[in-house]
Amino acid sequence: MKLLDVKDLEVQFATPEGSVVAVNKLNFSLDKGQTLGIVGESGSGKSQTAFALMGLLAKNGTISGSAKFEGQEVLNLPEKQLNNIRAEQIAMIFQDPMTSLNPYMKVGTQLMEVLIKHKGMSKQDAFNHSVRMLDAVKMPEAHKRMAMYPHEFSGGMRQRVMIAMALLCQPKLLIADEPTTALDVTVQAQIMSLLNELKDDFGTSIIMITHDLGVVAGICDSVLVMYAGRTMEYGSVRDIFYRPTHPYTQGLLKAIPRLDTEGEILPTIPGNPPNLLRLPVGCPFQQRCEFVTEQCQQSAPALAEFEAGRQRACFNPPAAIATVSGSEA
Ligand SMILES: Nc1ncnc2c1ncn2[C@@H]1O[C@H](COP(=O)(O)OP(=O)(O)O)[C@@H](O)[C@H]1O
Ligand SMILES: [Mg+2]
Repeated sequence: MKLLDVKDLEVQFATPEGSVVAVNKLNFSLDKGQTLGIVGESGSGKSQTAFALMGLLAKNGTISGSAKFEGQEVLNLPEKQLNNIRAEQIAMIFQDPMTSLNPYMKVGTQLMEVLIKHKGMSKQDAFNHSVRMLDAVKMPEAHKRMAMYPHEFSGGMRQRVMIAMALLCQPKLLIADEPTTALDVTVQAQIMSLLNELKDDFGTSIIMITHDLGVVAGICDSVLVMYAGRTMEYGSVRDIFYRPTHPYTQGLLKAIPRLDTEGEILPTIPGNPPNLLRLPVGCPFQQRCEFVTEQCQQSAPALAEFEAGRQRACFNPPAAIATVSGSEA
């Protein structure tokens, strides 16, 4: 059985100007211990995909489709069931740790509360376990830090606290939504390598959400490239990095900073993602695509398997280009 099996997931929002489809018939699955990257520019529907799974959608949102976690449907569950799943089965971390941390409460108290509430631990056990977890996320002087408030930590250390908190109840799945976007490059690399270690130590599966395709290279097994709520390309991390064949994936890859291009201005994909209220007829990427044809302006290409284990939605795919040198994928 798959750990997570998502079928035709759709998220719609009612707005005064009409209804928008933020997530459009998304399909993906995840095995135990696997890491999936969901990559796309801002506004492509990555966070709403995660929020739908976690039951955290805004009030004007509706969900359809199915998401089975160990065979159990998790979409549209009542709040009480969701609360249990959220702490003990699926945990989520955010770009801004302050989304999950209470600024007025000692970090130790916040960690302990989770264990007392969900695991029924005594205060003493909860304290010891929390210190161990801070150690596990490589927090220096973990014992001392228990008595500190979130604002006394650096951004990177706060992110470690949040990872510790997310992993306290040993969830089977961790959804990380742009966990390093607000951090500088060095700290970003430290957090990614920490997540990589923890995933092996705890056997946690991860969904890594990011706008930066460079981030997924070292940690993901497979990658789903999203645009305007839809899957553009889906495949193993190796194929996505070494042989990307969707014009959008190729554009994202060219924008990754590399050691040998340091100091150069990197090409970004010209233009902006479309307004979901005014999507063009046909492929949502057509206005920014070098390879656009008349067909792309008439109908949207369906997502189809074009090689074993690889899917793509494109009528006129360019040849695969080798964009990444070195061996980080
Ligand atoms: N509450 C809401 N009401 C209307 N539209 C929303 C709402 N929340 C998100 N959206 C729309 O959903 C789209 C996808 O958002 P999101 O998943 O947050 O993107 P990202 O890929 O940057 O995480 C956005 O472009 C936004 O227009
Ligand atoms: Mg987001």
